[in-house]
Amino acid sequence: MKPVAPRINEFQDSIFGVISRLARENGAVNLGQGFPDFDGPEFLKKIAGQKIHEGHNQYAPFHGTQNLREEISSYYQRFYQLKYDPDAEVSVTVGATEAIFVTMMAMIGPGDEVIVLEPFYDSYIASIKMAGGVVVPVTMHAPMFSVNMAELKRAITPKTKMIIVNNPHNPTGKVWLKEELQEVADLALANDLYVMSDEVYEFLVFDGARHIPTATLNDMKERTITISSAGKTFGLTGWKIGWICANKEVSRAVRLVHQYVTFAVSTPIQEAVAEGLKSLETYIPEFQATYKAKRDFFYEEMIKLGFNFPKPLGTYFMMVPIKDKTELNDVDFAMKLIKDYRVATVPPSAFYLKSTEGAGYLRFCFAKKEETLNEAVKNLQGL
Ligand SMILES: Cc1ncc(COP(=O)(O)O)c(C=O)c1O
Repeated sequence: MKPVAPRINEFQDSIFGVISRLARENGAVNLGQGFPDFDGPEFLKKIAGQKIHEGHNQYAPFHGTQNLREEISSYYQRFYQLKYDPDAEVSVTVGATEAIFVTMMAMIGPGDEVIVLEPFYDSYIASIKMAGGVVVPVTMHAPMFSVNMAELKRAITPKTKMIIVNNPHNPTGKVWLKEELQEVADLALANDLYVMSDEVYEFLVFDGARHIPTATLNDMKERTITISSAGKTFGLTGWKIGWICANKEVSRAVRLVHQYVTFAVSTPIQEAVAEGLKSLETYIPEFQATYKAKRDFFYEEMIKLGFNFPKPLGTYFMMVPIKDKTELNDVDFAMKLIKDYRVATVPPSAFYLKSTEGAGYLRFCFAKKEETLNEAVKNLQGL
C-alpha cells in the first residue's frame, strides 16, 4: 500500500497517552493527566440537559451560536474592559486545541517563524509544523521560568511572524507579571509580530495574582489573538468549547479554516456555556477556592516530602524539581515513580526543544479529588 502523507512522519504519540497507559498497567494514581477527576458544576450540567430537551440540536452557525459569542464578548468587557464585536471578532471552536490549530493554519505559511516559549503546550509545535511554519524555541528559565529578553530578541528574524504566550502557564503554574508581558509586547510592536495568547487558565489564579490578558496592553489588541476554553473555566474539559478573539481580518481567516475543519461546534453545549458565562461573577470565587485548597494541600505535602520550590500562582499544575531526590532524569524518575510508588506524573522534557532544564523536573496535576491526592501523597511517603 502507498504510505501515509509524509507530513505526519515526524509526529509521535503524545507523552500523555504513554503515561496514562503505564499508570493503568501499574495501578498508579494518575497525577499526569491534566484534567480534573471530578465533575464540573451541577447547575451547568442541568442547563446542558435542558438545552437538549428544548431542541437546540441542529447545526449551529459555523462561527458559534449568537448567544455564546455575545456572552464571550460580554465577559471580556466586564472582566477586562476589552471590546470584541461578537459578530466579527469572536469565533467558537472545538476547544482551545482547535483554536490553536486553525490560528496556525490561518496565519502561518511555509517558512514563517513562530517563537514558542518552552516548556510549551505540545499542540503548538504540531500545529505550526502542519501549517509549514518553523518553530523557534526560547526557554523560560528555571526556577522562576522567566524569559531572558536578550535571548528573545536574538530569536527574532525578518521571517518571524508570531510569538506564542501562554498565561497562566502550563506546565509551570507561572502567572505573568505585567512588566514581563509588556517586554514581549514591546518586541511584538517593534517587529510587527502577532501574539497568540493562550489564556485557557485565565481564572485559575491564586493568592491575589492577577491575570492580565495580553490584549489589554497598550496597542496590543489589534495584534493579539486571544484563545480561551470553557473546558478549563468550568472544569468540564470533555465539553470542548473554545474560542478565539481577534481583529476582523484575523477572525475572518480563522473562520475560513474552521469552516472546513469542523464546520460547526455542538449546539446545546454552546448554549449551556453561554448560560455559564453569565454566572462567572458568582461562580469564579468558589471555583478558585476549590482549586486553591487543592494546591495548598498538595504543595504542603510536597514540601514535607522534601521537595523545595516556589508555590505556583496559577493553573492546576506544579513543576517540581527532582534534583535533590535523584540522579535520574525526568523520564526515568517518572517511570520509577509509576512502578515503585504508584504515582504517575508527566516528565516535562517533552515540552522542551532547546534546553535540558526539563530533565530536572516533573509535572504534577493537582486537579484531583481529595481522596486521589491523599492516595498519591500516601504512595509517595518514603521517597
Ligand atoms: C495551555 C493549554 N492550551 C490549550 C489546551 C487545550 O484546551 P481544550 O481542552 O479546550 O482544547 C490545554 C489543555 O490542557 C492547555 O493546557
